[in-house]
Amino acid sequence: MNHNQLIQSALNEVERSNSIEDLELVRVKYFGKNGLITQELKTLSSLDTDKRKELGAKLNNLKKNFFSSLEDRKNKIESSEINLRLRKDFLDSTLPARENNLLEAKIHPINQTINEIVSILGGMGLMYEEGPDIEDDFHNFSALNIPKNHPARQMHDTFYIKNEEESYVMRTHTSPVQIRSLKKMPLPLRIFAPGRTYRCDSDITHTPMFHQVEGLVVDEEITFANLKWFIDIFCKTFFKKENLKLRFRPSYFPFTEPSAEVDINYTNESGKIILGEGTKWMEILGCGMVHPEVFKMSGIKKKVTGFAFGMGIERLAMLKYGMPDLRDFFDSDLKWLEHYGFSFLEETDLSWR
Ligand code: PHE
Repeated sequence: MNHNQLIQSALNEVERSNSIEDLELVRVKYFGKNGLITQELKTLSSLDTDKRKELGAKLNNLKKNFFSSLEDRKNKIESSEINLRLRKDFLDSTLPARENNLLEAKIHPINQTINEIVSILGGMGLMYEEGPDIEDDFHNFSALNIPKNHPARQMHDTFYIKNEEESYVMRTHTSPVQIRSLKKMPLPLRIFAPGRTYRCDSDITHTPMFHQVEGLVVDEEITFANLKWFIDIFCKTFFKKENLKLRFRPSYFPFTEPSAEVDINYTNESGKIILGEGTKWMEILGCGMVHPEVFKMSGIKKKVTGFAFGMGIERLAMLKYGMPDLRDFFDSDLKWLEHYGFSFLEETDLSWR
């Protein structure tokens, strides 16, 4: 084959290629390591000067044309492939939805439970508050009467966040919102604060992230009797059990005095827990009268008293809706969510009394 024919056939084959793969084969055929043109280029050095100049210029010119038409062809092939895809994958959004295939989104039980708590506590006159997940040492501990080296710090299994000037933590409870609210809001004050909390702890009954809701009521003559009444109404409403029994058991928290843990009664009928019946007790929350040191640390000068409470939201949800394992809450298992999740359309009945 003479050089002119070779050049012509190289260019023709590029034009005739109909896929990226074909183009690559043509490139290798002519310009690969042992390609037809590559071989010709190798023979150049053995030619005499005039011939070498002439053929060299010709082949180099071809090389330029070859690769620029290869590029053009490649672009054409690619855009026609895209056009084909666009025509084939066309989605008619005006078609009616397939009937049996409607996936209904569900509300996660944690969100559902928080919504219920918001409705009940809001209905009882408390204001919704929030605080940051990343707290400083002062709000999470010191201001709550948990000074450095206090044994209660160890009980909290804290995630520390290193910082050169100040030490930050992932909040171990929602109680720091008590301090933030006392500092910024006028008295009297009635707030609740649901949110995420963190402890470096993980087993069947603990996850490193969980949820709590905090409550705080401060006024001139708040007593323990007010606290008992409040918790009693809340629990009966939340669990929808008029006959639920509550037991206030003396306990200890550095930021309340006196402090109590609250148990509710239940019975276990062949593995099923029934609340409000039977004589067994189950702990559900911690509470107490605000410690004077907490008022002092929050800059409260006025003579007031108050009660505070804190409870775990997963635990409340599990007791109300019967999930057996805490860890499932955060596994994003669609089957679990489908089963325990709540419908948007279903209105929660929060009526009490
Ligand atoms: N913060 C306490 C805890 O996480 C609960 C609590 C809140 C107790 C408010 C008393 C008053 O265990």
